[in-house]
Amino acid sequence: MYRIITALSKNRGIGYRGKLPWNIRKDMNFFKNTTSTVLNKKKLNAVVCGRTTWESIPPKFRPLPNRLNIVLSSSMPEEENVTVCRNLNEVHDYIYQNRKKIESTYVIGGTSVYKQFLDNDLVSDVFFTEIDKDYQCDTFMPELDNDKFKLISSKEDSENDVNMKFNHYEYHNSEEQNYLDLMREIIDNGVPSGDRTGTGTNSLFGRMLKYDIRDGKLPLLTSKRTFIRGIIEEMLFFVSGNTDCTKLQEKGIHIWDGNTTREFLDNRGLNHLPVGDMGAGYGFQWKHFGADYKDCKTDYKDQGFDQIQNVINLIKNNPESRRILISGWNPPDLHKMALPPCHLSYQFYVNVDKKELSCLLYQRSSDYFLAANY
Ligand SMILES: NC(=O)c1ccc[n+]([C@@H]2O[C@H](COP(=O)([O-])OP(=O)(O)OC[C@H]3O[C@@H](n4cnc5c(N)ncnc54)[C@H](OP(=O)(O)O)[C@@H]3O)[C@@H](O)[C@H]2O)c1
Repeated sequence: MYRIITALSKNRGIGYRGKLPWNIRKDMNFFKNTTSTVLNKKKLNAVVCGRTTWESIPPKFRPLPNRLNIVLSSSMPEEENVTVCRNLNEVHDYIYQNRKKIESTYVIGGTSVYKQFLDNDLVSDVFFTEIDKDYQCDTFMPELDNDKFKLISSKEDSENDVNMKFNHYEYHNSEEQNYLDLMREIIDNGVPSGDRTGTGTNSLFGRMLKYDIRDGKLPLLTSKRTFIRGIIEEMLFFVSGNTDCTKLQEKGIHIWDGNTTREFLDNRGLNHLPVGDMGAGYGFQWKHFGADYKDCKTDYKDQGFDQIQNVINLIKNNPESRRILISGWNPPDLHKMALPPCHLSYQFYVNVDKKELSCLLYQRSSDYFLAANY
C-alpha cells in the first residue's frame, strides 16, 4: 500500500502553472521529514510522482535526497539516480523487487497520479496539509472518499498569518473491521461451553458478515496471514467432486491431514476408508448428492445429483428462482463423512435489474480466530 502526501488550499488547489502556488517553509519541512523518516535505518522510503511534478522541482533539488525517486512518464528519457516507470504496474514491480530496502512509498503528486492510486484502492494513508487560504490554482486535489478514509490525527500551525492543519487520514476497511469487532464480541461476550474436541469454546450464535465482491474483489483479510493457495486449491478440489485428500497433500496442502488419518477415520467408524479419504463430504454432496458413497477411489460419474450444474443452469435460465441453492448437509450421509460440513448451504440471488449475483453462505460452526475467513 502507498501513502499520499500533499498540501492543498481552501479551494483544494495544489498547483499553478507547473509550480506550487505558495511558499510555506513549515509545509516543506513537513514534507521532507515525513517522506524521509524511516524506523529501520537500513531502509529508505520511495517517492513516486508524475513527470510534471518532477519537472516542477528545481533541478538542483532533484533527485530528492535520502529517498528513492520514481517518476511516472511515457515521454521522459531515462535519467541517472531516478527510476522512470512507464505505467503503474512498473511502479508496483519496482517497489516489490526492492521491498527489502524500501520502508514506505509516498505518492507525491500531481493530480493525475493521486487520482490513479486512489481510484485503484492502493492508498493506506493520506497526509494533507490543509492550508486555510484560497490561492489561484489550475491543478486540484481529488476528493477523498469519507467512507474509506478517517481522520486519525490533526495538528494546527501557522506561518506569516497563514493557518494550516497537518491532517493524517487512514484507510478504513469496514469489512475487515466488522470481522475484528466480531472477534472482540466473542472474547467479551462469548458463552463458555464444552465441545466435541474437549478443548472448550466461547461461543456466540447467529452472526452475519457481508463482503462486497463486485469489480473482481476477493475479500482477503489483512490482519492475519491467509493461505491463499490452499483456499483456491481446496475450492477447486471440492468443485471437482474429489474427496481424496492425498491429491491436496501432493500439492503441499495439509489442511485435511489431521481429519483423515487412520486413527481419526477409525474413531468415526470409517475403518473401510483409506487414509486421506474425507468420506461423503463437501465435493461429493455438491456433485453427487444422493449417490451411494463407497470410497474416494470410486468413479461416481453420472451418479447422484449435480447441485453445482443445477445452480449454474438456474442462474442462466431462471435467474428469478428462489430455489438456487446448494445443500451439503445430507443427514443420512453424515456418518459417512470424516467431518460433517461446517459451511453447509449456499443460496444464490440474482438481481436481474443490475445483473448482480449474491451468495448467502450458512456456516453452522467455525473456529472464528483460526478458520473463519481462512
Ligand atoms: N501541492 C502539492 O502538494 C503538490 C504536489 C505535487 C504536485 N503539485 C503541483 O501539481 C502540478 C503537477 O501536477 P499534474 O497533475 O499537472 O501532473 P503530474 O501528475 O505531476 O504529471 C502528469 C504526467 O505524469 C505522467 N503520468 C501520469 N500517470 C502516468 C501513468 N500511469 N503512466 C505513465 N505516465 C504517467 C504523464 O507524463 P508523460 O506526459 O511524460 O507521459 C503525465 O503527463 C504542478 O503544479 C505541481 O507543482 C503540487
